Amino acid sequence: MSQERWDAVDAYVEERLIEPDPALEAALAASAEAGLPPIALTPSHAKLLHLIARVHGARTILEIGTLGGYSTIWLARALPPGGRLVSLELRPDYAEVADANVARAGVAGLIEIIVGPAIDSLRGLVAAGAGPFDLVFIDADKESTPEYFEQALALTRPGSVIVTDNVVRDGMLADAATGDPRALGMRRFHELLAGGAVDGHRVSATTIQTVGAKGYDGFTLALVES
Ligand code: DHB
Ligand code: MG
Repeated sequence: MSQERWDAVDAYVEERLIEPDPALEAALAASAEAGLPPIALTPSHAKLLHLIARVHGARTILEIGTLGGYSTIWLARALPPGGRLVSLELRPDYAEVADANVARAGVAGLIEIIVGPAIDSLRGLVAAGAGPFDLVFIDADKESTPEYFEQALALTRPGSVIVTDNVVRDGMLADAATGDPRALGMRRFHELLAGGAVDGHRVSATTIQTVGAKGYDGFTLALVES
C-alpha cells in the first residue's frame, strides 16, 4: 500500500461525501498564500471531527492549535445556535490569517481566537474558571501534548470528549528507541492515559491509526468519565 493509493482513496471519498465549500477552499488557499505549512486536517478528517461534535451535541468547543482556522471552521459549523468555540494559536501572523478565514466563512461571531503560548492561555482559562468545554481538539506542537491534555482536562466535565491529532506519526509511537521529540511527546501522552486515571479524573481512551493524503498517522479519542 502506497501514498498514491491513499491519496486516490481520499480523493474518491472527498468527491462523493464532502460537499464543495467555497469558504473552506478559500481558507486553505489563503493559508497557502500566507505561507502557512500545509498541515491542516484533510477534508475527510475534518468532517469526522465535525461529525463527532454533532453526534456529541457539543455546544462549547476548545481547540488548541488554530493554524489557518480550517478545522476551526469545520468545528464552528457543528455548533448549535448559541454555541461557542475558543481556539488557541501561538503565532499572531497565523491567527490573523485564521481571523480572515473564519470571517469569510461567516462564523466569526461564534469564535474567540486567543493568541500566545497555548500552555499560558490554558492556565489563564483555568484561572478564569472558563468552561466546561464539551469537546476539546488538541492539534498544536506535539511535544507539549501531555501538558495540553492535562490543562484541557481541567476545563472539561464528565462526558466531555478530547480528540488529539497526530499521535501515531509513521508508527514512531510504538518505537521505544525513538529520539523524535514529537513522537516522544505522544509516547508521554499515552503513558499519561495508561491506567485510565489522569490528575484525579477517570479517562477512557483509544487511539486509531489512519492513512490518507497526509500519510500514516492517527488520533486519540478520550472520554472524560469523571
Ligand atoms: C504537523 C502538524 C500537524 O498538526 C499535522 O496534522 C501534521 C503535521 C507537523 O508539524 O509537521
Ligand atoms: Mg494535526
